[in-house]
Amino acid sequence: MAESPAAERAAFLRGEIERHNHAYYVLDAPSIPDAEYDRLFRELQEIEAAHPDLQTPDSPTQRVGGSPLSAFGQVVHGVPMLSLNNAFSAEELIAFDRRCRDGLGVADVGYSCEPKYDGLAVSLRYEDGVFVQGATRGDGFSGEDVTHNLRTVRNIPLRCLGKNLPPLLEVRGEVLMLRRDFERLNERQRAAGDKEFANPRNAAAGSLRQLDPKITARRPLRFFAYGVADAGAVAPAPTLHSRLMEQLAGWGFPVAAERAVAQGATGLLEYYERIGAARRALPYDIDGVVYKVDRLADQAKLGFVARAPRFAIAHKFPAEEALTTVEAIEVQVGRTGAITPVARLAPVFVGGVTVTNATLHNEDEVRRKDVRVGDTVIVRRAGDVIPEVAAVVPEKRPDTASEFIMPGHCPVCGAAIEKPEDEAIARCTGGLFCPAQRKQALLHFASRRAMDIEGLGDKLVDQLVDNAIIKTPADLYKLGILKLANLERMAEKSAANLLAAIDKSRKTTLARFIFALGIRNVGEATAKDLARHFGGLDALMAADVERLQQVPDVGPVVAASIVRFFAEPHNVEVVEQLRAAGVRWDEGAPSVSVSSLIACKIFVLTGALPTLTREEAKALIEAHGGKVVASVSKKTDYVVAGAAAGSKLTKAQELGVSILDETQFKELLA
Ligand code: IVH
Repeated sequence: MAESPAAERAAFLRGEIERHNHAYYVLDAPSIPDAEYDRLFRELQEIEAAHPDLQTPDSPTQRVGGSPLSAFGQVVHGVPMLSLNNAFSAEELIAFDRRCRDGLGVADVGYSCEPKYDGLAVSLRYEDGVFVQGATRGDGFSGEDVTHNLRTVRNIPLRCLGKNLPPLLEVRGEVLMLRRDFERLNERQRAAGDKEFANPRNAAAGSLRQLDPKITARRPLRFFAYGVADAGAVAPAPTLHSRLMEQLAGWGFPVAAERAVAQGATGLLEYYERIGAARRALPYDIDGVVYKVDRLADQAKLGFVARAPRFAIAHKFPAEEALTTVEAIEVQVGRTGAITPVARLAPVFVGGVTVTNATLHNEDEVRRKDVRVGDTVIVRRAGDVIPEVAAVVPEKRPDTASEFIMPGHCPVCGAAIEKPEDEAIARCTGGLFCPAQRKQALLHFASRRAMDIEGLGDKLVDQLVDNAIIKTPADLYKLGILKLANLERMAEKSAANLLAAIDKSRKTTLARFIFALGIRNVGEATAKDLARHFGGLDALMAADVERLQQVPDVGPVVAASIVRFFAEPHNVEVVEQLRAAGVRWDEGAPSVSVSSLIACKIFVLTGALPTLTREEAKALIEAHGGKVVASVSKKTDYVVAGAAAGSKLTKAQELGVSILDETQFKELLA
């Protein structure tokens, strides 16, 4: 049966959008500008809204999340989802290789090697190439039906790419959150006054197990495939696991770029060392690597013991957790006055370094974890993040253990400590008169991701502030060699180096500068967004709350922080002093300014809009500096289409002109 033009167009758009999705999220190589992608997406949404029967479960519009569920259903796994045995040392690994060689009766075995993702295992079911069901691992035999949530994960194909797809395919892999996405999410949570997640794994788990898929859709989850439930179902049947992974990549599934094939125990150990060294540079957390006998026929020959395969093993990285005791709980004053309880610990070696302090985050966390002086605790240090007290070992609590009491006054400046009812964080009210806050603000200003002033460490900042040599970041640029060289432990050479580093930092970027100011709730990602959006500092300083909220991811809390910051004369003065001291950056054009969205743009109105008359719409456009013309051409920027829109709409579609409904038109005006 011939399809209607709308059905054909919808199918075409679905294919295009998924192709661009794949390029963006799987290949990491965007194939069209965002605005163009948005246009295709909106057009598909419009067609589906006009013809609900054309909406399919594999439509990319379904990625925004449907209605909430009251509970998850159960899914019985056709092929159980097993676990892996672990190896913690080279000896255990050599023993694994020996077992494989002996079991297969060969002298040398080829292995497929992959990172061991620190996320949550899921199974994705595809029928005729279309994603139909997704489930968590559960107890390995049955898990929870999280199809609705998995549909929102942008790099999970809703329809497989390519040809020769098996009628039934179950792809196994891990759902996780990239570290940078996790940091951004926590930045958002913080700004909204919501609870932060402890680590990317918890954030991924919490997001996947949401009953409301719209919430999941807003969480930046990713998927990585590491196998299929039944390789026999794939035709022509691959002979190697590594080939199977390539086949999965060909069908549009994300697979680790760090995959490799290695020969024998020596090859495995080399891979382990290589990935271990690269671990921090990977975009996601891993807790080891996984080796699998590469030949699938050999996997079958080796089979399983209990609930784990004999043909595969997880080689874990050294623990990033250790036990020690809490000797005291003190508080530290942060850059924005935030009071952080810190556990002073008996020194312990963890994650490759000796740790003597661990953060307890805030008073509520101390109570929640019930950490007391004298307790034995688990300290965690993952990579370069600040060590934290993960949990208490209650059995080891001595009778003498004493509870933490939040002081009423700042231990540094003596100002009152206040804690707003609805906030988790207590703060010193001393502001920049508090030397601790001043020091932290300076350290933040100089930090690598801000102004990047090498050599300005905490010892030096302590001296500069304690001796009243420096009050604000602007004073840094007035420092001379004499003042510096007179400080303790400061040789002339290092003083000269520091001055050179300060001088070098004068040339920076707007994003770094905004971040360096240390505006509350403005992290690195937000600073970048602000710089991109406003193009220049003056526009940012002049922006009101409404204007600020036009920046993606800037909500009322962040906007209010920014306005409050620039409303403080002292802050504006420091900014001016910095500029006068020669701190500079290239200012760009704002990416979108309200007026440029409409000013000088050419509009065509067609069909009946739900609430606006044509005259009203025209007046609005003209009031914003736009122009309304009668017919659609290549020069048209927008067609605003209402009910019973006719040939103008079709023409706009043919020419690829942006089409808006009344709501979108009003959003543009706003
Ligand atoms: S293969 C037959 N490969 O580790 C077992 N698992 O400790 C199939 N995991 O539940 C698992 N990365 O969720 C495999 N590259 C990888 C993995 C991986 C992470 C998880 C998986 C499994 C757990 C077992």
